[in-house]
Amino acid sequence: LGKIKAGDDDPGIASYDPGFTNTASTRSAVTYIDGEKGILEYRGYPIEQLAEKSNFLEVAYLLIHGELPSEAQYDSWVHDITFHTFVHENIKSLMQGFRYDAHPMGMLLSAVGGLSTFYPEARNIHDADTRHLQIVRMIAKMPTLGAWSFRHAQGKPYVYPDNDLGYAENFLAMLFKMSEPKYQADPRLVKALEVLFILHADHEQNCSTNAVRSVGSSQVDPYSAVSAGIGALYGPLHGGANEAVLKMLRRIGDVSNVPAFIEGVKAGDERLMGFGHRVYKNYDPRATIIKKATDDVFEVTGVNPLLKIAVELEKIALEDEYFVKRKLYPNVDFYSGLIYEALQFPPEMFTVLFAIPRTAGWLAQWLELVNDSEQKIARPKQIYTGDRGLVFPSREERW
Ligand code: ACO
Repeated sequence: LGKIKAGDDDPGIASYDPGFTNTASTRSAVTYIDGEKGILEYRGYPIEQLAEKSNFLEVAYLLIHGELPSEAQYDSWVHDITFHTFVHENIKSLMQGFRYDAHPMGMLLSAVGGLSTFYPEARNIHDADTRHLQIVRMIAKMPTLGAWSFRHAQGKPYVYPDNDLGYAENFLAMLFKMSEPKYQADPRLVKALEVLFILHADHEQNCSTNAVRSVGSSQVDPYSAVSAGIGALYGPLHGGANEAVLKMLRRIGDVSNVPAFIEGVKAGDERLMGFGHRVYKNYDPRATIIKKATDDVFEVTGVNPLLKIAVELEKIALEDEYFVKRKLYPNVDFYSGLIYEALQFPPEMFTVLFAIPRTAGWLAQWLELVNDSEQKIARPKQIYTGDRGLVFPSREERW
């Protein structure tokens, strides 16, 4: 179609689609979403069933391998991930070199990018065993790096992994362990974190996954590609939205202020953060599951007082014509921030809690990209709107 032109100056027939709203950049068999019906499936399995019956590492296996593991495959996968949770001491030094108030996402992004220099063999993306090793390493090390970025801001010593613990439990221990020899996380919190990890593990061609695929299409190593994904996730319209939700709830301050706030949103003063989604034009199925998880977490931590404001916002918005007409419903971020705050995470950590599980999805999509013989280097077309053929005037002529 690009060759059908009205004249030499005509760029030919092309779709102008900023934001890729109607342009498929790839084929994929990893995650299925029906935004109109509010359906999300990983490798064909509905998210509700995975959240209820599986755990994060099994879901990560499913995403990466395309099918559920046998018992032996599962044991070996968990063993391998557990074996790789430690990181090189020089990566620890790299992280310790950041300013005391460094944003944990900036630290994570740099540390993951830095890992590529510790595993130069990762550049051999054409070898299946090498690829697999990097996938295992990255899924294993993300909680360690994420927990260290958290301890850093608090001025606390970094805690090494305890490989007798499960994935989420180990992460909680590296975050919160003080001086006692063993950290005992409440099993209800471990379960809630596993559920949150499962919900965030993949979401087809979102901004960060597209970044991973786009950078990965240059055949760079997977650490560099994933660090690009972390950069995309850092942005407030993507992974930063739950942080923005909390700030918004705090600003609203009281249930009585909700109607006036909604009026401001409708007048275009600001957006209702945690509402709306590029794909979901219905309730985000992850938001339904998270809403249930808030009860379990608040049973342990006590109820977050901002919950009342969130519930009121949702109630009013779901009945208001502005939101109904535009099909704006709560997304995954609307309630997740409330849980994270109840778990004592500062808002800067929220996106890190998203990046850790999303690493499984990024890597599943990266693997699919590498194995897709039809995939080309990402190089979108542009519609040029600038000048042409100008004559460069000398400085004497201009000044
Ligand atoms: N509050 C108020 N109005 C909104 C909102 C919102 N949260 N979201 C969209 N709208 C309105 C827009 O103003 C626009 O109205 P108009 O047609 O009168 O101009 C209409 O709905 C369509 O909005 P777009 O921006 O075109 O929708 P898009 O698909 O590009 O944006 C996005 C999706 C970025 C998620 C948007 O809904 C938004 O900014 N939401 C708030 C931020 C947020 O919660 N992000 C998290 C996304 S989920 C994730 O990353 C895990």
